[in-house]
Amino acid sequence: MAGEHSAEPVGLRERDRRGRAATAVAHPNIALVKYWGKRDARLVLPRTSSLSMTLDIVPTTTTVALAPGMDADVVTLGGEPLTGEPLRRVVAFLDLVRVLAGRRESAVVDTRNAVPTGAGLASSASGFAALAAASAAAYGLELDATALSRLARRGSGSAARSVFGGFAVWHAGEGGGAEGDRTSYAEPAGAPDFDPALVLAVIDAGPKAVSSRIAMRHTVDTSPLYPAWAESSAADLAGMLAALRRGDLTAVGEIAERNAFGMHATMLAARPAVRYLAPATLQVLDGVRALRDDGVPAFATMDAGPNVKVLCHRTDADRVAEAVRAAGGCPALVAGPGPGVRVTGGEP
Ligand code: DP6
Repeated sequence: MAGEHSAEPVGLRERDRRGRAATAVAHPNIALVKYWGKRDARLVLPRTSSLSMTLDIVPTTTTVALAPGMDADVVTLGGEPLTGEPLRRVVAFLDLVRVLAGRRESAVVDTRNAVPTGAGLASSASGFAALAAASAAAYGLELDATALSRLARRGSGSAARSVFGGFAVWHAGEGGGAEGDRTSYAEPAGAPDFDPALVLAVIDAGPKAVSSRIAMRHTVDTSPLYPAWAESSAADLAGMLAALRRGDLTAVGEIAERNAFGMHATMLAARPAVRYLAPATLQVLDGVRALRDDGVPAFATMDAGPNVKVLCHRTDADRVAEAVRAAGGCPALVAGPGPGVRVTGGEP
């Protein structure tokens, strides 16, 4: 009988004292129906539901190692110590995990992005999805995929969707407080009967001037167009789910494009305006329209930055990438649907 003096419990206690470590890998996602606006900033509850495709390129790899002897968390991104607001966000997230796990140890967090951070390529989505999975494993929280999505949401809303591979829908949920927290999570939206690709026009790989967090709050607070976009977004989501079910890439693309233009319209109408679109953004958008005029189904979406992501059939992706490079004078990457977050390593 395993008792007080058996080897097993002593071994566990010893391991607890040393601390545990876990590594997780997550991929970015690109929203086709956007998340733009919160109804609760602390719980990261969105005003609208959204839908995205998780990519198979530029993942984030994060290791969380418990460090019982240290009195503060240490976080590095690409080998450099994180400071200021980004550090504060990671520490606040770890505080949440510690409360859920009933533990107090500090942690050493090492994060590596295969893409420049803050480039409008959704590194906060992959970042907080990887941090959620790695920290949950390191602190011994056993979460199913829904609970992990809810946890990742608290770090960055879009991270809730990167928990899942392929297409994912993030439900806004209902109400506030505990009810809102329980009902706001992402889940798979089903695999469509077409082979999609997203071509990423990297117009600017530098950090963005205004974070999406600040820009979306300013938009909700000051843009007279915001309520109209939020209302039409619900119809966009219903239309997109139906288009995905019937495998209609053209309908998916048309809805994605109008939803993104609408989101940028809300920002342009904010007071003062938030404008992420650059001259090269418009050149790429012209290039996408020219592709359509030539009979290639290609549809654009843009996030909180000047970069353009072009949805098309996989078989057209090389041609689309060539056209995008020529139109924007910028590099272009081709991505397909990628996997959900996974824990790749445990005890070192
Ligand atoms: C334009 O998820 O980065 O990419 O929840 O404040 O961290 P926070 O915002 P974040 O916003 C993403 C906004 C977007 C659209 C989307 O991904 O749906």
